[in-house]
Amino acid sequence: MLNLDLSNISSFLPGGWRTGQEPGLKKAHDFVLNATGAGGEYTGWVRLPADYDKEEFARIQKAAEKIRSDSKALVVIGIGGSYLGARAVIETLTSNNYNLTRKDGPAIYFAGNSLSADAMNEIIDLVKDVDFSVNVISKSGTTTEPAVAFRIFKALLEEKYGKEGAKGRIYATTDAKRGALKGLADKEGYEEFVVPDAVGGRYSVLTAVGLLPIAAAGIDIDALMGGAREEMELLAKPGMDTPAWQYAAARHALYQSGKKIEILAGYEPAFRFFGEWWKQLFGESEGKQGKGLFPASVEFTADLHSMGQYIQQGERLMVETVVRFDCAHTKRTIPDDPENVDGLNFLSGRSLAFVAEQAMRGTILAHVDGGVPNILLAVPARDARSLGALIYFFEFTCGLSGYLLEVNPFDQPGVEAYKNNMYALLGKPGYESQKAALEKRLDS
Ligand code: PA5
Repeated sequence: MLNLDLSNISSFLPGGWRTGQEPGLKKAHDFVLNATGAGGEYTGWVRLPADYDKEEFARIQKAAEKIRSDSKALVVIGIGGSYLGARAVIETLTSNNYNLTRKDGPAIYFAGNSLSADAMNEIIDLVKDVDFSVNVISKSGTTTEPAVAFRIFKALLEEKYGKEGAKGRIYATTDAKRGALKGLADKEGYEEFVVPDAVGGRYSVLTAVGLLPIAAAGIDIDALMGGAREEMELLAKPGMDTPAWQYAAARHALYQSGKKIEILAGYEPAFRFFGEWWKQLFGESEGKQGKGLFPASVEFTADLHSMGQYIQQGERLMVETVVRFDCAHTKRTIPDDPENVDGLNFLSGRSLAFVAEQAMRGTILAHVDGGVPNILLAVPARDARSLGALIYFFEFTCGLSGYLLEVNPFDQPGVEAYKNNMYALLGKPGYESQKAALEKRLDS
């Protein structure tokens, strides 16, 4: 379904680069499929598009219908892997202006992904006078940002609807057995959905974590899972003829040749947030032990007028991966102007899609000429089935890529460092000695 074009990397790599990656990929493929590598206990996402909990899936669809019928807004509380996937899918499949362009269903606001009082108050103002529901999502149940946000929105709901009314508007997505949110949800009687043990945050978009908000936005989650399932079946087969092996091999060979940054480029503004999801996926999976391509993302053509300069002529550190959607949702033709003041009549009658295609083709060649290898990934349509396939493709290649780098692609030990310092500075019980040491450093 996805089509990978590697013709614009070969001039940057020695001949036989594919063959050189095969032994590592064979091992990586086995690690991913059979859960035999580092972090193998977190490979529950590998068979997820087929082996998901069907009873829970039906409950997700029912809950989404209820939210769509009784709420003008849905506040999705979560951070990192607990919100990026949902937002990426909703925006990519609808619009980055989803809240303005939606025809029916609730506006969706993402809270608990910052510690900004202004951002929090803005969402409160947007929802307080309309019927709204909350989906609080936290695997650990203890992450500060969403926990703080949930306190605030729970209180707001209880004030508006009473404790009993609020209960019917809170959906908790968390661990099946443990954690503070699980305890609270059990005690209060919220409808609960599960983040499976074997699926880490950044791999959880196809669990209830992503699916409930996505379904609440009116997106066909059956089609999303179906697309992921087709890709899963395709990629399960080992070999350099699969796009997953080719992509993982290409980016690893380019990394070994000295490239340090991979830029994900899209030509649809609606795709911008998918780049945020992709950055977490690759950044948290690969960026450890002093290794890994730094994942960045750009939106073309807008960023060609800003970052385009650096990409063309700055440090030669980059690999560019372009995601192109083959079909636009709508058409627009450029009108003729009898006066031709802007000199653009040579484009009269042309579609914007045609102009965008030439912009993309020209940019690829310019960047390749400027020393940036280019990987082109064509996606048939901006629809749920294709996006399910794209998500699974990146998850699978990320697993392979992590093992090629010889890191554990499924842990994120580095994320704890800031949390520990923040807890100490905030005076969390148990962090007293760190607090004193940190304050001394900050005051010196
Ligand atoms: O990928 C990850 O594990 C992280 O981004 C987490 O998803 C994020 O820190 C949120 O964690 P939690 O869902 O436990 O609140």
